[in-house]
Amino acid sequence: MSNTVLVGAQWGDEGKGKVIDVLTADSDIVVRFQGGNNAGHTVKTGNEKYVLHLIPSGILHDDKMSVIANGVVVDPQGLVDEIRGLEKDNIKIEGKLRISDRAPIVFPFHKILDAKAESGRSYAQKIGTTQRGIGPAYSDKVSREGMRIGDFLLTNFEEKLGAKIDAVNAQLAFFGKETVDKDAMIRDMVALGKIIKPYICDTQVYLNDAIKAGKDLLFEGAQGTMLDIDFGTYPYVTSSNTTAGGATTGSGVAPNKIDRVIGVIKAYTTRVGEGPFPTELFDEDGATLARIGHEFGATTGRPRRCGWFDAVVGRYAAAVNGADYWAMTKLDVMDTFKTIKVCVAYDYNGKRLENMPSDADVLSACKPIYVEKPGWQTPTTEITTFEELPQNAKDYVNYLCEITGVELGILSIGPKRESTVRVAI
Ligand code: IMP
Repeated sequence: MSNTVLVGAQWGDEGKGKVIDVLTADSDIVVRFQGGNNAGHTVKTGNEKYVLHLIPSGILHDDKMSVIANGVVVDPQGLVDEIRGLEKDNIKIEGKLRISDRAPIVFPFHKILDAKAESGRSYAQKIGTTQRGIGPAYSDKVSREGMRIGDFLLTNFEEKLGAKIDAVNAQLAFFGKETVDKDAMIRDMVALGKIIKPYICDTQVYLNDAIKAGKDLLFEGAQGTMLDIDFGTYPYVTSSNTTAGGATTGSGVAPNKIDRVIGVIKAYTTRVGEGPFPTELFDEDGATLARIGHEFGATTGRPRRCGWFDAVVGRYAAAVNGADYWAMTKLDVMDTFKTIKVCVAYDYNGKRLENMPSDADVLSACKPIYVEKPGWQTPTTEITTFEELPQNAKDYVNYLCEITGVELGILSIGPKRESTVRVAI
């Protein structure tokens, strides 16, 4: 029996969907524990491509359970759209999905407030949010003014939501913004609640009972370490704990029930939205990474910023997550480069920094200190064992693992399920 937490080690979009899909084969239950439908996990199975936002990728397997736990903020409309979309693709949902009664609800007004907050920020302070209402929904949770999925089961749901809408409308009016139609929103939410109700349960009890019964759990992180509300490049972060600790508070499964942590890390770096990114490339190499890596956001379609691998980020992610293994992805994207750079430390005003600074302005002023590695200029996507890789590719991967201090568990060299080399796990 083993319970695994899988998290992104960079700024999200590391290819977690695919790694989770592969590891799901070894698990009974896949659990989302933070974030919301700001996430976009792409999974390719044969000729089919699925992009999942809220529902764990475990849903693509008929014999696995999927859980949206208490740490996730749930947009009822987004959830129902996703359920309907999967059903249209003949993916069975009934009996395979559980949603926590403690999960906060993302209402349409949270999206309005998200857009309002973003438009009120000066250009330099913009976060570049996904506009899914994530920040305002978590704000409501923390300020104890939110509503939760379990509220759909209450007899006074309409009354409770009505009072909430009144409060939000007063706020919107104060800011000179258009208010929301209370009756229409209550009507829509009651209709969505009817669809969601059968899936609601106390997922903490469900998960801990499953552990007692010897089931294997896979915790599916969304976003990445550098977007963590505490450890990311604050304030250019998302509003949840994207790091491994979030799996326990976000699910009610205690830390001593977690057996291993796998960090998903790309062989280079990308970032969507605003904020510091020391190894970002503005040249032909960056354009090559974006083109070959198809670096466009799965949720918003925005082009991702691309850059070389950053070992300061890697070491930091290894520490805060307690990563036992890396699942390294998209190595094949580097196939055409003659030389490849790796950032080993930062230069901050002439001072060498080995550790991640806490201040985003300091990080913005950091210049990467690079070492250069020879490329392999050989296609790798058809390769199925680590040994078959060109020597320079092996050396590159081994070097990244060595300077970040984490063992290689999985190597992904293409988008399909088959292009995954299981090295140590
Ligand atoms: P929010 O989560 O929509 O509030 O956005 C906050 C920041 O996190 C923005 O820079 C987004 O681009 C980024 N972000 C949120 N979700 C993801 C994701 O799944 N992948 C990559 N970046 C994300």
